[in-house]
Amino acid sequence: MSEKGTVAVWVELSGENLPLAERELQACASVLDPASSPPRPLPWGGERFREVTFSRPGPEGLLARRLGLAHRVLRPLAEGNLDTLVDAMVMEGGSGATARVRVASGAPQSLAREAPRLLGHAFLQGGGRVDLGSPDRDFVVLLPAASASPPAATEAGLAELLGEVPRDEMDSRRSKHRPFRKPVTLSPLLARSLVNLAGAPLGGSILDPFCGTGAILLEAAFLGYRVSGADRDAEMIRGTLQNLRAEKVEPDRLVQCEVQELLSQLEGERFDAAVFDPPYGRASGTGGRASSEVLLQAVEALPGLLRPHGRATCLVSDPSSLPPMPRGLTLESTILGERVHRSLTRWVVTIRRDH
Ligand SMILES: C[S@@+](CC[C@H](N)C(=O)[O-])C[C@H]1O[C@@H](n2cnc3c(N)ncnc32)[C@H](O)[C@@H]1O
Repeated sequence: MSEKGTVAVWVELSGENLPLAERELQACASVLDPASSPPRPLPWGGERFREVTFSRPGPEGLLARRLGLAHRVLRPLAEGNLDTLVDAMVMEGGSGATARVRVASGAPQSLAREAPRLLGHAFLQGGGRVDLGSPDRDFVVLLPAASASPPAATEAGLAELLGEVPRDEMDSRRSKHRPFRKPVTLSPLLARSLVNLAGAPLGGSILDPFCGTGAILLEAAFLGYRVSGADRDAEMIRGTLQNLRAEKVEPDRLVQCEVQELLSQLEGERFDAAVFDPPYGRASGTGGRASSEVLLQAVEALPGLLRPHGRATCLVSDPSSLPPMPRGLTLESTILGERVHRSLTRWVVTIRRDH
């Protein structure tokens, strides 16, 4: 199905924010393999599936553990009409393993009932066994959406589960489970996607200059990055340290300072990426400064904080409040992040240091 030596995967993105999820997938795949293809939509399984092709084997097994805004990563086995899929399942049954077949959501009901029955039967015919509880192999059939127009009832894709995104694990790191909690805390899912969007090389360094309770630094550490943080508020610095240590994460540096003091405090240290959620509204104390002024100071510090080609990802409540980019920085993208409530929307911005 893919060119010799290359490895394709099908990724089920989470539905809350598809453009952001797709962007995260692209950034994450490029970190694992700079020669990977951009995500391509698949014709079945609803609007949430994408195909990514890696230039070599290896990265596909790491993808699910790194993504935030996705559900599962699949290894494609066959595509075509149901007969083609049945033939493929007979072959797979030859392994003698136990298996179950599930349907990706969105398919017409009749087909969604029929397809797993047919494919399960084919697996038995090939010599395998069915186990719906804890099978050795987990197959997923992707059918055309019920709403597909024109309907392509027989075209479908068959894949095997490679890995699930650790959403329960991320859920267990939500604010309510941490020793230090504040209402400003970012959700682990959004924090992880921001870190991924920054595209820092594996094992690189991440700085959060507004670390608050440390949600971004925690996800960055779980992705294998070295983490440093800063905040103007001493309570936040202590709280971040408490939250990181509760997860056995030791930061490289944590400094209490205003963002405009960061360059001198960090004495010329450079980072592969800066990922942050600057103050907005009244909830997160700015010491009386306007949030726009604080954001300007953060953006102005970026050329001195980032390594060449390093990236910053940040959340802003209004993209028009972004200051003009200083020399040497390029505004790469602005994507709708999340609607916090009726009057507060947050956008995800990525900025790159040119050289
Ligand atoms: C929106 S909160 C960050 C929340 C954080 N992402 C989390 O998940 O907990 C913004 C943080 O910026 C800090 N802050 C506000 N103004 C600042 C400034 N001028 N320099 C440095 N930190 C500042 C606040 O103390 C607050 O902790």
